[in-house]
Amino acid sequence: MVTLNQDPDGISTITFDLPNSPVNVVNPAVIDAFDDCVSRALADKDVKGLILASAKKDFIVGGDLNGLRNVTKAEDIINVTRKLHALFRKMETGGKPVVAAINGTAVGGGYEVCLACHYRIAVNNPGMQIGLPEVLLGLLPGGGGTQRLPRLIGIQESLPFLLEGKKLRPEEALKKGLVNALVNTQEELRPAAKQWILGSPPLQSPDPGKCIQPWDKKEFRIPGGGVNSPNNAMMLSVAGGLLMKKTFGNYPAPQAILNSVYEGLQLPFDRALEVELRYFAKCVMSVEAKNLIRTLFFVKNEADKGIARPTDIPAADIKKIGILGAGMMGAGIAYAAASAGTEVVLKDVSKENADKGKGYSEKLLNEKLSKNQTTKEKVENILNKISTTGNPADMAGCDLVIEAVFENRELKATVTKESEAVLSKNAVFASNTSTLPITGLAKASARPENFIGLHFFSPVDKMPLIEVIVGKKTSNYAIAVAIDFIRKIKKTPIVVNDSRGFYTSRVFASYLYEGFEMLAEGIAPALIENAGKAAGMPVGPLALADEVAIDLIYKILKQTEEDTGKQRTDASVSIPMRFVEEFKRVGKKDRKGFYEYPADGKKYLWKELTKIFPPAENQPEVTILKKRLLYIQSLEAIKCLEENVVVKPSDADLGSILGWGFPAYTGGVISLIEMVGKEKFAEECKVLAKKYGRRFRPIKHTQTAS
Ligand code: NAI
Repeated sequence: MVTLNQDPDGISTITFDLPNSPVNVVNPAVIDAFDDCVSRALADKDVKGLILASAKKDFIVGGDLNGLRNVTKAEDIINVTRKLHALFRKMETGGKPVVAAINGTAVGGGYEVCLACHYRIAVNNPGMQIGLPEVLLGLLPGGGGTQRLPRLIGIQESLPFLLEGKKLRPEEALKKGLVNALVNTQEELRPAAKQWILGSPPLQSPDPGKCIQPWDKKEFRIPGGGVNSPNNAMMLSVAGGLLMKKTFGNYPAPQAILNSVYEGLQLPFDRALEVELRYFAKCVMSVEAKNLIRTLFFVKNEADKGIARPTDIPAADIKKIGILGAGMMGAGIAYAAASAGTEVVLKDVSKENADKGKGYSEKLLNEKLSKNQTTKEKVENILNKISTTGNPADMAGCDLVIEAVFENRELKATVTKESEAVLSKNAVFASNTSTLPITGLAKASARPENFIGLHFFSPVDKMPLIEVIVGKKTSNYAIAVAIDFIRKIKKTPIVVNDSRGFYTSRVFASYLYEGFEMLAEGIAPALIENAGKAAGMPVGPLALADEVAIDLIYKILKQTEEDTGKQRTDASVSIPMRFVEEFKRVGKKDRKGFYEYPADGKKYLWKELTKIFPPAENQPEVTILKKRLLYIQSLEAIKCLEENVVVKPSDADLGSILGWGFPAYTGGVISLIEMVGKEKFAEECKVLAKKYGRRFRPIKHTQTAS
């Protein structure tokens, strides 16, 4: 697990190699074994210095989240963390130089191990990451990270890493001072570490023969000044407010980090660690951390590994795909697939159009190149993988074809037939439709068992989720191929059954419709928008309707009316209808919607809005609006579960966070109900239903997410 070896020159190497695990993590057993190695090395008078190394591909990837999510008593986490702090202090003050030989990703607790070393050398491998991403899972760097990093690089410099969980590639980490030196190859790493031990210390030592951290020196000053220095005092006095503006108080971890830095940096180091420990335990015990860890770590990892993939189908090697339609979505899919090493045939109505679509990849890659995030050779390699055409016969030889032409049934039917005429019988045909039921589209196919929905989100290069839609006749084979492809392009799949709007669009739409209902009731537009953001949604419902395009919403509603024969008159239909037909305002794409979009980029709510929908004299409490905007989505998601559109509550959760930005602190759209408490949720829905209508009627929710 953790072993100690000594070479003839008196250099001890402590190697992390967690058994039966592809990665190293920090857990209580590792801490004990590590402590034992450090104690032995420090006690051995022949040992001149220590190298910390990893036998895995990565260095250490963090604390053991499984252990953390199962902690039930704060004392337990406090006791373990105190042990870790004591061990780090032993290393720092033990009088022997300790160097971290960072061979791969070192994040979270893994980077905190490095911070407790006197020196950090990393291999310059752009594929690896260094940083403290704990905040993203509702935690704070509890292994001394909130105290060591600001003391190492300064308070202002460290806050983006601590508060945003930013991870850096080695070159950037060197520039920012997170590591001290880089080597080019793995082979150079340990010799460089050894050389540092034999050559450098005790340069910093006040006491000959001893090695000491800067923060343990009497004359230590925090780089850039302490919390009360003029610059920092000013910045910290507004930091809490800025944070609140971003989190609306929904995420306790960033505030805890800020408090820990502010309080801890005014104290001697060992007392500062105790301050951090209190905040850390509070975060570990918080429901927000448990929600974030469950959905964004465990559920997401399982989905990424392909848990939804039928196991009886051999793995598919998807070498070449075809993409029909080189518009916004097709161009984005081409980029994602080619970047993952897949050959892409990008087809549009003409080769010129397809070339334009390929231009999107060129643009993204050139941006990366200008930021030094890739090399010219890699750019060429990726672009060479995309060939363009206007000829449907060029789909021949593709293992998978993804259709992303206009949202039009007849057109989709035509391109399906054209492709199938040249495809091999094993090839899978996928539609990226956002609204048309897959079973219906599959009617144009001669082999509906190979027909599936692959619903990408825009912009494809940034959005991690793909909704896999299973039509009535879709086979397990097609699902397996689709998931193998999604894994190849490193996206996250959820598998859902066919339904109008599938799962994501259907639930997400309920958020927009509730915003429309509020507007019709006379709730002030700014209050509606702020309530959405305060609830944790990325933007308010009206702004989102503008982004999606009001005419698209209108078109979908019309199509639904036509297909189902059911006419609706509620605000969710009448408002988009009036915007399209009466006001001719279709959204952001036209710079006119619920908002105005002037050329200076500063959008504001359309002034006429309050004339058309005069705000009522008495405006409701924002808490009620927040509840309405979130609960309506949870209710729609339960309906999807009960109708078997989405099968697992955990998929519903994951899809909601990754697909449309449902607030992650809740753990997702179903976990929210558990966070509130099932009974309380049902009670509150009853009250809402009385006041606002049947759409809030509680539905018996039988499945749990946690
Ligand atoms: P778009 O309008 O940007 O692109 C459609 C492209 O299809 C155009 O370049 C057009 O020339 C091409 N096309 C038309 N007939 C063709 C044919 N016979 N063969 C090949 N190409 C042809 O549309 P967008 O936004 O990329 O949407 C495409 C599909 O993706 C639609 O079904 C849409 O509902 C769906 N979708 C859109 C999302 C979005 O956010 N825009 C999100 C998810 C799905």
